[in-house]
Amino acid sequence: SKDMKDMDQDKMKGHESHSNVVSLNNSTGVNEVNIPAELKRNNKDEVVYTVRAQKGKTEIFDGVQTNTYGYNGSFLGPMIRLEKGETVKIRTINELDEDTTFHWHGLEVSGEKDGGPQSILKPGEENTFEFKVNQEAATLWFHPHPHGKAAEQVYNGLAGLVYIEDDHSKSLGLPNDYGKNDFPLIFQDRIFDDKKQLNYSAAMNTDGTIGDTLLINGTLNPKLTVNKEKVRLRLLNGSNARNYTFKLNTGDSFLQIATDGGFLNEPVSLKEITLTPSERAEIVVDFSKIKEVNDLALINEDRSVLLPFVVTDQSGETSMVPKKLNDLSLEDKEMDLPVTKKVELFGMMDMVTINGKKFDPERIDFTQKQGVTEVWEIYNKPDMMGGMIHPFHIHGAQFKVLSRDEKKPPENEQGWKDSISVKPDETVKIAVQFKHKGIYMFHCHILEHEDNGMMGQIKVE
Ligand code: C2O
Ligand code: CU
Ligand code: CU
Repeated sequence: SKDMKDMDQDKMKGHESHSNVVSLNNSTGVNEVNIPAELKRNNKDEVVYTVRAQKGKTEIFDGVQTNTYGYNGSFLGPMIRLEKGETVKIRTINELDEDTTFHWHGLEVSGEKDGGPQSILKPGEENTFEFKVNQEAATLWFHPHPHGKAAEQVYNGLAGLVYIEDDHSKSLGLPNDYGKNDFPLIFQDRIFDDKKQLNYSAAMNTDGTIGDTLLINGTLNPKLTVNKEKVRLRLLNGSNARNYTFKLNTGDSFLQIATDGGFLNEPVSLKEITLTPSERAEIVVDFSKIKEVNDLALINEDRSVLLPFVVTDQSGETSMVPKKLNDLSLEDKEMDLPVTKKVELFGMMDMVTINGKKFDPERIDFTQKQGVTEVWEIYNKPDMMGGMIHPFHIHGAQFKVLSRDEKKPPENEQGWKDSISVKPDETVKIAVQFKHKGIYMFHCHILEHEDNGMMGQIKVE
């Protein structure tokens, strides 16, 4: 029937969006990338940080006010710096007209502090929580997680950064001058309507909303000015659904130094890196070594220009990239563990499931003991149309990747991860340990899939 045909076509449309057929417009590089402000600490009080979810207006396009959401401002959020070992109190306040949560993506805290969909704050409500920073240096982030509304709230601008530092990270000599040679770059694609507004319901695709306009840290047509020196870029794919494959237009290589949850053992030299939604990578580009610095840019797989670089004549050879960055090894005991949790990712559009089921807040899907490592096997079951990549994420833990289709994972995935891309028909094994107790989510980080129920719950006890 006609209905069936239309439905099929709609599905096709949704599905194709994942091969990123909606291409991104080239950045014209007219605006210097905004660097999120570092959130000020309150040292007098017990509350170290206060984070407010707010509505506001932002001038993304010259002379036009776009309605947006942000943390402690109108769009996106500040960078929050934490030190390993310290005890931190964070006060979160919902100043929106709708329910939200404050989820700390990648942070190893107990389930009730993690800000999953069970931790709703209604408009006007607030919550203060305290925790000890108990994990190594990494680039994490925070965003809302109300069930069914996470995608829209992130799309409207709710996302911020968390940096964790420790004595080790400070002793490495890596570029770490924030906003000078150490830059966060949050990649998000959006669609703006004729009035230059973010109209989520019009843009929304149930299979993952893909935009034609790139914002980096909320900046339209971004460029980044750097000196002729080693520069650290902390890449975050903060998009609802788009995957990026980053490379330099000159074909020069760069070093990846960190994954989602910490440093790699050794820097890994790469010519390109793919990040699926919510994944992070820290890379170091040595601008003193690149010959063709005119028209240098970070580009995407399809060669669209994501971020033009303006390289000054100034050099500042003070930082370095040590050969050894971390000491993280796969122990035999992890390699030999049997698979005790199986996760099957399946479906598309609003028919997405995990192990054949949709999210149910009343249902606990798995249990695991605190401090005990278990091997999870994640399988992406293809559908009639081949299927798509699902970025699989677990709350409250950093895990190790044991294998992809029984083979050793690539070198640059042999570090702490909290999100992992799983290709159609691929099986990924990971070793997962939770340091804390509580109920945590695990889900696909295509935000529309998450909102459509591609999510489960694990109780750690
Ligand atoms: Cu980025 Cu459930 O989280
Ligand atoms: Cu998370
Ligand atoms: Cu998915």
